[in-house]
Amino acid sequence: MSVRAIVLAAGKGTRMKSRTPKVLHEVCGRPMLWYMLRELRAAGINDILVVTNDELQARIGEFGVTGVVQSEQLGTGHAVQIALQTSEPRSHSQVVVAYADMPLVPRAVFSWLLDALDGNAATAAMTMITAKMPVDSNFGRVVRSGEDVERIVEVRDATPQELLIDEMNAGIYAYDENSLREAVARLKNDNAQREYYLTDTVADFVRSGKRVKPLIIGDPLNVLGVNDRTELAQARREMNARICAQHMRDGVTIIDPATTYLEPELAIGRDTVIYPGTTISRLSEIGEQCTIGPNARLSNAKIADRVEIRESVVIDSEIGGGTSIGPFAHVRGGTRLAGNNRVGNFVEVKNSQYAAGAKSAHLSYLGDASIGEDSNIGAGTITCNYDGKAKHATTIGRNVSIGSNTSIVAPRTIGDGALTGAGSVVTKDVGPGERVAGNPAKPISKK
Ligand code: UD1
Ligand code: MG
Repeated sequence: MSVRAIVLAAGKGTRMKSRTPKVLHEVCGRPMLWYMLRELRAAGINDILVVTNDELQARIGEFGVTGVVQSEQLGTGHAVQIALQTSEPRSHSQVVVAYADMPLVPRAVFSWLLDALDGNAATAAMTMITAKMPVDSNFGRVVRSGEDVERIVEVRDATPQELLIDEMNAGIYAYDENSLREAVARLKNDNAQREYYLTDTVADFVRSGKRVKPLIIGDPLNVLGVNDRTELAQARREMNARICAQHMRDGVTIIDPATTYLEPELAIGRDTVIYPGTTISRLSEIGEQCTIGPNARLSNAKIADRVEIRESVVIDSEIGGGTSIGPFAHVRGGTRLAGNNRVGNFVEVKNSQYAAGAKSAHLSYLGDASIGEDSNIGAGTITCNYDGKAKHATTIGRNVSIGSNTSIVAPRTIGDGALTGAGSVVTKDVGPGERVAGNPAKPISKK
């Protein structure tokens, strides 16, 4: 029989003080919930049910899982009661329950719990992850009797002596399905918060002669529960460090991981060097031997090999090999640079194509433009692509020389080998080999 995971995510998340449900708050560009689901699946658990509230349920489709709404949040035990109503008794052999506010949980935890439950199947009804933490932590305390857990006591219900226990409940459990059903049905809310605590299943098992086995996780950061925004920042810092470490092990040089902001699912080639202050997001791909940063921002950027991007922004664009961008350039909105291009200081490029070797080194705006091979765009060139109503295209051929401070009033075509003089305002198409200058630009001589 199969394993089901129940992920609890219906809580109000009051301590976040936010309109957004807690588990949708992002850690390194992904909602907290995303990480928990990724790790469950990586552990081979694909039958996942998320207990949600109305706001989260509206977005649960994005995560590729089923959600069940817990309309009134009466506690973690109540949430599991609702989850269990969605399946027939004995339809699963084991049930993993995890709280969704733990983005740093590693996948190995789940098989560890399930294996330990299997290994003690005759007597144990439950295994749970615990961690040693400072006694000022707000986690539930694990009261032991020898090797086993006797009960869990929440901070608000604990005696001063119990508050000194430094073994805490992480919020990840594996249950024998039948035992869980029976225990959950018996839960009461006679505690400080008037909630049905899932953690009370432990004492229930012990009363009926079943055992609960704790597994102590080494590094408590792995089970950091995010309840407020200081813990969110702590989780982000740790996750970012883990992502950076993986890329460094794969051959990327990151000068300062603490000030390099990465997301999951990025591809970065060997011998690429990333300088401080750089943010790389949204499935960006970077080739080998690139230099990125300092202070670069790349979002959904596809970067080939040997590209240099300094103090610049590249969004939704493809950059061919050997290209140099920046400092202080802005490349965006569907731009494609074929390779060996230059987009220099204070140049903005939007939705434009550069053929191989095309260059725009200084102070320009190229929007809805296509630039042919080896053409050079002089300093201060503007494609006037907007007439107040619509956007228009500029097509520049190969080996064209656009003089400094040229304004090209689109839609306009400039033929191969043409030239515009400094300060030209181009209001008519320019033929191949033609040379124009002035305002409005007029032919000066043919090649
Ligand atoms: C809980 C545990 C505590 C443990 C800690 C670890 C209980 C009673 N306490 O406390 O022992 O040390 O987690 O982080 O379980 N949720 C629901 N429905 C509800 C209430 C909560 O789905 O009615 C969800 C929340 O969205 C959250 C998770 O359950 O993802 C835990 O709830 P939370 O309020 O964060 O519990 P803690 O006070 O942290
Ligand atoms: Mg919590």
